[in-house]
Amino acid sequence: MIWTTKITQLLKIQYPLVMGAFGGWGKAEFASTFSNAGGLGIIAALNFPNPEEFRKDIQKVKRLTTKPFGINLSLPHHILEESREGKKTQERYLEYVDIALNENCTIFTTSGYKASFIGKRVQEAGGLWFHKCVLIKHAISVEKEGADGVTLVGLEGTGFKNPLTNTTLVNITLAKKMLKIPIIAAGGIGDARGFLGALAMGADAVCLGTALMATNECPVSTKIKKKWLNLDIFDETFHNKIYKYNIKNFMAPSTAIGHRKTLVTIHKLIEELITEADDILDSWGFNNNEFNTLDI
Ligand SMILES: Cc1cc2nc3c(=O)[nH]c(=O)nc-3n(C[C@H](O)[C@H](O)[C@H](O)COP(=O)(O)O)c2cc1C
Repeated sequence: MIWTTKITQLLKIQYPLVMGAFGGWGKAEFASTFSNAGGLGIIAALNFPNPEEFRKDIQKVKRLTTKPFGINLSLPHHILEESREGKKTQERYLEYVDIALNENCTIFTTSGYKASFIGKRVQEAGGLWFHKCVLIKHAISVEKEGADGVTLVGLEGTGFKNPLTNTTLVNITLAKKMLKIPIIAAGGIGDARGFLGALAMGADAVCLGTALMATNECPVSTKIKKKWLNLDIFDETFHNKIYKYNIKNFMAPSTAIGHRKTLVTIHKLIEELITEADDILDSWGFNNNEFNTLDI
């Protein structure tokens, strides 16, 4: 089946699947495998101690895949506060952006706060700027600032939370009515039903974070990954960690881990997800050979 959405068209990827940004792990091997499997792999610029190491990793991705890949720059508010490093920090970010632009990277994702200075630099150079946030009101702001697309992370997801964070269901169905730019759904998506559900809600692609933690390529020991696979997502402690907004910097598996049963390769994960989605669509009587959401 051919998958056609605004995002597959804009990013020139086979499936409407985008890798989460991964602080610590989003580097060449992990990201290029995701791209080679048909999605958009992402390397996170701030995983590298200096711009030169970052440049080497971009060059490595280019050796490992000929498929599109993206660059993430995460901007946690505590780093960007004017009262701390302010302008100096922005210059540091732009140094990384320029390295990637010079390496002919064209897809940039930002997450966090006040990222338009990056978006502007990227778009002036002819690149695409996607921003990731958790509130629809921030998505509306970045649309006004000219972002080419937005990722909305729901309460089910892992990562930074805002006291006003909504669920993926609320985010995506309402964002679809309130935004014109393409939307990527993130938060709690770990199987084909979540994938199709997000597309039905109005997303043009989904972002997989936690689901990739249960893959062979995730650069963590098998022992830790097996522990994640055995997590009880219905346990009160787990529930509190995911849904309570006071834990703002929580980088552990989300509820999506409940869908993963065994460790698989990224290729297998994506292949199974797409095959299962095909089967579900078949069972609903959909027998086109193209799934196309461009006109919806
Ligand atoms: C270990 C880990 C590290 C992450 N690091 C970042 C990061 O540096 N920047 C960012 O924007 N998101 C980061 N995220 C969040 C993911 O990019 C993505 O938004 C989130 O995992 C989606 O929700 P899900 O885990 O339910 O799929 C991280 C997630 C995990 C699990």
